[in-house]
Amino acid sequence: MNTTFERDLEAKGFIDIPIDPTIDLVEEINRLKKEKNAVILAHYYQESEIQDLADYIGDSLGLSQQAAKTDADVIVFAGVHFMAETAKILSPTKKVLLPDLKAGCSLSDSCPPHLFAKFKEQYPDHLVITYVNCTAELKALSDIVCTSSNAVQIVESLPESQKIIFGPDRNLGDYVKRKTGRNLVLWNGACMVHEIFSQEKIDTLRSAYPDAKFIAHPECEDHILAQADFIGSTSGMLKFTIEDPGNTYIVATESGILHQMQKASPHKTFIPAPPNNACACNDCPHMKLNTLEKLYNCLYYEQPEIILSADVISRARKPIERMLDISAKLGL
Ligand code: 13P
Ligand code: SF4
Repeated sequence: MNTTFERDLEAKGFIDIPIDPTIDLVEEINRLKKEKNAVILAHYYQESEIQDLADYIGDSLGLSQQAAKTDADVIVFAGVHFMAETAKILSPTKKVLLPDLKAGCSLSDSCPPHLFAKFKEQYPDHLVITYVNCTAELKALSDIVCTSSNAVQIVESLPESQKIIFGPDRNLGDYVKRKTGRNLVLWNGACMVHEIFSQEKIDTLRSAYPDAKFIAHPECEDHILAQADFIGSTSGMLKFTIEDPGNTYIVATESGILHQMQKASPHKTFIPAPPNNACACNDCPHMKLNTLEKLYNCLYYEQPEIILSADVISRARKPIERMLDISAKLGL
């Protein structure tokens, strides 16, 4: 930063810098993107206006694959902290920006690396598979990373005799256990968004829409998944709604995905599965911290930036690359 004005703003935090209300944010973001050779990678749980101007929208696997191959100089990650860290690990020479550094993840927080390291010590002959929703430090303690779209296949790619620790999501872990018949040792973590669906409200919706299909993300609890007509990652669910002959879907995951579902199938009806609170749909408070304004400031000031030590990058990179290699071999 050059000017005293900008240094003052830096001290206050770039995300809250007031923006000239007369500018067209979308136009300016697109101009800055070209000027800086930047790419915007967005997760499906982002606000629809962010999804609409992203260069790539996807699930965690797709976003990692894009981050690994982009030739942009700057990656603006419209998602949460662990996703931007993964992009930095895969493209360490690029500048990786996150519109709001406070965009964390309850699932990632449920697995502090120092506690996981102790947990791991109890199972010295086990291989460690971690769901990508965790810190870079945790990935550095792992043998293979996975996402919700390849967790089952990654476990199945290992010999049946291989002992495995799976973390941090107990719900995804339980789902993988049921699908593969393997006995995984699970870390007891969970996502705050996927654990609060209301069984009662879902039942009421299903009675009101008897022809609707119920589709769910594997981060949901067992009793929710047990009723699902389809279980998959965000991109898996989106693909299902495009290819399925049905017309109405009750969707048990963060509500941001409904934007792409509705865009892809405008004639179909999508109903968010309700949580057990006063809200009608389930928003991730971390994902929703990113706004168009913060995205603009982040591109303009090239801050906040994801910084990781070379040591963490080199240790966390191996298990992520192992996941990408297995996924590429399996055509995922
Ligand atoms: P996927 O988009 O990979 O299914 O992940 C869902 C999620 O919870 C991301 O935080
Ligand atoms: Fe984390 Fe859950 Fe939010 Fe995904 S939806 S970022 S797992 S808190």
